[in-house]
Amino acid sequence: PPMRVFVLAGSFRAGSLNIKLASLVARLIEEAGADVEEARIGEFGMPVYDGDLESAGGIPAGTRALCERLEKCDAFVIASPEYNASVPGGLKNMIDWVSRTSPQPFKDKQTMLVSASPSMVGGNRGLWALRVPLEHLGSRVYPDMFSLASAHEAFKEDGNLFKDDLQERLRETLTSFLRLVEADTRYVCLRRR
Ligand code: FNR
Repeated sequence: PPMRVFVLAGSFRAGSLNIKLASLVARLIEEAGADVEEARIGEFGMPVYDGDLESAGGIPAGTRALCERLEKCDAFVIASPEYNASVPGGLKNMIDWVSRTSPQPFKDKQTMLVSASPSMVGGNRGLWALRVPLEHLGSRVYPDMFSLASAHEAFKEDGNLFKDDLQERLRETLTSFLRLVEADTRYVCLRRR
């Protein structure tokens, strides 16, 4: 079967630039021949993590729904905004809830990080911060990241980037990532025999 990649947009906002970037990433992945499962963080409705809430009610339904979908996929792409040079609280909260589940869906799976921001650096500092909890949970975070600068004026009406060369770079980065995921998935299958 083709590889299945989970593409998560880490912004709650309806007009989110990161949702636009996630949609473009999803389309490019499909064009490369893999299956995509698209999601937005807002779908999962998680409360702010509170140990008492967990003791009383266990893992929230939204977290369990997210984990089920993560487990069905071979790899993840996360498109996240940068807030104050770091990971947005909502996304970190989601990772914290997921970390309380077992088996740990991020463990031993490849993740690629992308960001979009109206700024000149495209939210790249936020991705460096996002690597930390994901790697802590055992995810293999792809070394190459893609950050879209001036993202408020980067997209055409049809969802493609105005700059063709930039879109090709994104496609190439995704293709390299998918090649690694494919090799890794095959290796895991061989070891399980
Ligand atoms: C921001 N923004 C921002 N941008 C950036 O490049 N570096 C930063 O440190 C921050 N910090 C920051 C903090 C907070 C609280 C907000 C609300 C925003 C701007 C941010 O990149 C912009 O709002 C994006 O449009 C957010 O991403 P989405 O929602 O469009 O995907």
